[in-house]
Amino acid sequence: MFDFMKKQHYYIKQIIATDTHSVRHPVLRPGKPIESCFFDGDNLDTTIHFGIYDTILIGVCSILKKRNPNFTALTQYQLRGMAVLKPYQGLGVGKELITYCDSFLKKKHADLIWCNAREIAVDFYKKNGYHIIGNSFHIKNIGPHFTMKKNLTQ
Ligand SMILES: CC(C)(COP(=O)(O)OP(=O)(O)OC[C@H]1O[C@@H](n2cnc3c(N)ncnc32)[C@H](O)[C@@H]1OP(=O)(O)O)[C@@H](O)C(=O)NCCC(=O)NCCS
Repeated sequence: MFDFMKKQHYYIKQIIATDTHSVRHPVLRPGKPIESCFFDGDNLDTTIHFGIYDTILIGVCSILKKRNPNFTALTQYQLRGMAVLKPYQGLGVGKELITYCDSFLKKKHADLIWCNAREIAVDFYKKNGYHIIGNSFHIKNIGPHFTMKKNLTQ
């Protein structure tokens, strides 16, 4: 995995909400209308979108300044729309994006990042320092999810 990332001239940069659609659509909302890729809060001033590029955009994620009432931490961000194009999955691309978000948020003195993880992605988040909080719940048209969180203060 790491050999691939070392060999590629990839880079991560901040992007705008609509840029995420070329990855969100095939990976997270295949076969659904493009409007299904518009997420609440996408265009808020406090929302940040990141893209990771090889020669093309290959992965995206978004962080929203949003408190989860289950957590007491003061400054919380929600990770959303974590997606890597299929041919690039399992090569360390998602890990690079998560690591980038963590250091970005630590610089902003954020306390915690959380997400609603698809059941199939739970182990990916666990490997990247997230823990499950509570029981699974169902999101309509998508499937079972778990809320997961990671403290950023340690
Ligand atoms: C989930 C996803 C973002 C992970 O990105 P990725 O680039 O494929 O993951 P990485 O290659 O960086 O994997 C990092 C580690 O997590 C593991 N991992 C990745 N995806 C996994 C999965 N779905 N289940 C279990 N482990 C997974 C990898 O094996 C790797 O482990 P290692 O460090 O021990 O080798 C990507 O596979 C994806 O877009 N999947 C489809 C959409 C999706 O489910 N998004 C999450 C919505 S909540």
